[in-house]
Amino acid sequence: MTRKYLMAGNWKMHKTVKEAQAYVETFLPLVKEETEREIMLAPSFTALYALADLLKDTNVVLGAQNCHWEDEGAFTGEVSPKMLAELGVTYVIIGHSERRHIFGETDEVIRGKIEAALRHGLRPIMCVGETLDERVAGDTMVVLERQLREGLKGFSAADLKNLVLAYEPVWAIGTGKTATPEIAQEAHAFCRKILSDMFGDDFAQSIRILYGGSVKPENVVGLMAQTDIDGALVGGASLSPESFSRIVCFGRET
Ligand code: PGA
Repeated sequence: MTRKYLMAGNWKMHKTVKEAQAYVETFLPLVKEETEREIMLAPSFTALYALADLLKDTNVVLGAQNCHWEDEGAFTGEVSPKMLAELGVTYVIIGHSERRHIFGETDEVIRGKIEAALRHGLRPIMCVGETLDERVAGDTMVVLERQLREGLKGFSAADLKNLVLAYEPVWAIGTGKTATPEIAQEAHAFCRKILSDMFGDDFAQSIRILYGGSVKPENVVGLMAQTDIDGALVGGASLSPESFSRIVCFGRET
């Protein structure tokens, strides 16, 4: 089965609206020939509206970095998937390790957010990954299995057909320490096996699993060559249009 690469940029809490617009003006011409891979940019909430306009009818889709599990209500400071869908957002990152570890999101919260995103036709990019302590203790696979089984409990394969998974080892995020292609492949293959146990092999083979954690133009080729790696979720190196375009167009340079 061929899975289309998804090259996703997560800007985290960076870039004002003006900075985001300037980025897109530089970025679009750099990636305009790239039609075989899906390209996503996830700016901060404040820049979504402006970018929705600039990205319309281009080969780059819009992502959001988070959403709430309710459509509306007394949740000061939160943004609902209904609001994101109205803006033309395609993907929403859910359960990023910064949400899990800084903001205390649990597997149960993440499950609620996935359900809410799907309800509004958004495609969730569900993040899983172990901390350094968990890896050192030999618990990587236990943690990944728990995050997947708890986060995806109660869904059917049909519900999750638009799911994207991202394996992001916490020790590799923003640290410059990328997982080797072999370490990443081992974790990706394990996640796919759990998906197969839960939802069947056809489903598991159809789902894209992105790698995230210090992806750069210099290491992207080796990572993307792995059988079970179907794209990248890129933080720091997506902040410059030049470096992210090199990641998106990996292997194409002459
Ligand atoms: P990084 O972040 O590329 O800066 O390590 C990845 C992520 O958090 O998605």
